[in-house]
Amino acid sequence: MFVSDSILLQRDKFLILMNFEHEIVWENAQVYEEVYKNSIKDPNEFWMRYVKDIAWKRVPNSAYDNEKKEWLFGGVTNVCYNCVDRHAAKTSEKTAIIWHGDEENERREISYAELQQMVIQIASILKSHGIKKNDVVGIYMPMTPEAVASMLACARIGAIHLVVFAGFSPEALKYRLTTSNAKALLTITSFRRGGKEIKLAKNIPSDFDIDVINLDNISFSNNAEAGIEWQTSEDNLFILYTSGSSGTPKGVLHSALPYMLYVATTFKVIFGIRRDDVYFCTSDIGWITGHSYITYAPLFHGLTTVIFSGSPTYPQADRYWKIIEQEKVSIFYTAPTAIRSLQMFNKKLVKKHDLSSLRVLGTVGEPINKSAWKWYFETVGNKKCPIMDTWWQTETGGIILAPLRNLEQTPGVAGKPFFGVETDIIDGELVIKNKFPGLYKAIVHEHTTPDDALYKTGDGAVYQGTDVKIKGRMDDVINISGHRLGTAEFECAINKVSEVKESAVVAIPDELKGQTAFAYVVLTSPLERNDFAEIVKKIVNSTRNNIGSIAKPDYIVFVPDLPKTRSGKIVRKLLRNLANGGENLPELHSVINSEVIKILKVSVKNPIFCPDMCKLK
Ligand code: WTA
Repeated sequence: MFVSDSILLQRDKFLILMNFEHEIVWENAQVYEEVYKNSIKDPNEFWMRYVKDIAWKRVPNSAYDNEKKEWLFGGVTNVCYNCVDRHAAKTSEKTAIIWHGDEENERREISYAELQQMVIQIASILKSHGIKKNDVVGIYMPMTPEAVASMLACARIGAIHLVVFAGFSPEALKYRLTTSNAKALLTITSFRRGGKEIKLAKNIPSDFDIDVINLDNISFSNNAEAGIEWQTSEDNLFILYTSGSSGTPKGVLHSALPYMLYVATTFKVIFGIRRDDVYFCTSDIGWITGHSYITYAPLFHGLTTVIFSGSPTYPQADRYWKIIEQEKVSIFYTAPTAIRSLQMFNKKLVKKHDLSSLRVLGTVGEPINKSAWKWYFETVGNKKCPIMDTWWQTETGGIILAPLRNLEQTPGVAGKPFFGVETDIIDGELVIKNKFPGLYKAIVHEHTTPDDALYKTGDGAVYQGTDVKIKGRMDDVINISGHRLGTAEFECAINKVSEVKESAVVAIPDELKGQTAFAYVVLTSPLERNDFAEIVKKIVNSTRNNIGSIAKPDYIVFVPDLPKTRSGKIVRKLLRNLANGGENLPELHSVINSEVIKILKVSVKNPIFCPDMCKLK
């Protein structure tokens, strides 16, 4: 019999015990070390084991071709074929997707055969609109089986999907579609979340010239026209925009086949999956987690993936627990912010549900604090489920760091690099020193590809023993509730308000969201104290319209000037230090207008709390 357990060893350490039979085994830390070292020395040998999990039309000669510098060179297959068709042929009745809607009685079950028909239907609609291989297709949809099927339909015909999170604003949508040269946009008219109707189609700018395809009334179909476009190692699967340190988001391009190999393998090994697992990930398909670990990895392995389009707190804050109980979910993957927000409600909301089907828990998106870890482990996992604190990024495609079975785990420490991935910490920054199949191919429209020698993650990290502990971003990226947003994107939106001369946004810690945005704003002309409410509202509206409702500064201070260097650069480090309560300011020497510091020191202690101010009439 399979058992899964996580045993408390001593005060702060846990040993992860997970039994599963896969291609590689390691019973303890010593054996793990050896297996890991071999995977770095000979990545081909490691990856070839998992190349076998893919159903090929033509098998590649090796996992990595040293001459061509390409993964899976010579291999031919299709991602949709691997995630849908091969299962529809063998286990057609098996449930591929269970969907839960906003209201508690809204539930759908889609078998692999039905998913295949849905995918074929969308693929043939795309074809009838003239979409061909390599065309970019936008997907602006809520969490529905149709959204997942839309991604797979693109993959089926070799089109490149570009999912835009349904919470992003019209401006953000337009920017992404324009800069990636998208040919069509799949969407639906509206959906419900948290009891409210969200009119999605209304967000598509009317002056925007794009072929909008509405999927409100999609049906199942067996149209043989939408055949499979076979993909090679050079073909691409999707573009997904994420924030970097510039003022605009960057479009990260991923390959089709190497990406599939990476997400499928990390999923299999890290979560220790079994055929009968019911897997529930609470991310949204608008983020990389929703791409890799809601759509592609679970369907590749023919599991049942649960998707939820409602709010975790509507009508009550027990929706996740209710779904886990009802569907007998065995692997649950969520974000620290979700854990922290649900932790605030009465424990009874968790305890009234039978969560005994759970065997593995996971988190992703931000560092998990000890109290959230403990609550997740004890209250949700009933002290029997290991917690996979997985660190990775849009750019890496799949999980890089995770605690692994048969090894010790410290709460809040992401753990060890996945096999075949060589990580290091250089000048406090986590870097990846070798090639691995999940790494992105290019940043579209910047026309850049990853550096050959070293991939710099932008995250600060330290070693804790042989494990890696992530400290957070070192660049100008803020991680708000696991949503990656650039401070420069905030600033561009704030600076659009006509009364604003300039602004600087920095991250400060937030108990619930992990981090939040703190804005320093310089106005074109001084204001009376009681006029600030209007400006605050304008600033919040501008970030909402230009980025989306997830992006708004929580705190604003109005200041006469920003500290600058001789060449006119804003001294951000100083602003970051001040907002975080710093007293010692070593960066002072570089500031030329140092008279402003005195004022900043005082005003930073009394920021305007925007949610309060926006409530004022
Ligand atoms: C952060 C999300 C600490 C990190 C998959 C990274 C984490 C950024 C963790 C990527 C974790 C993600 N512990 N920090 N377990 N997971 N991060 O591209 O700063 O949306 O660089 O990908 O999230 O965010 P992205």
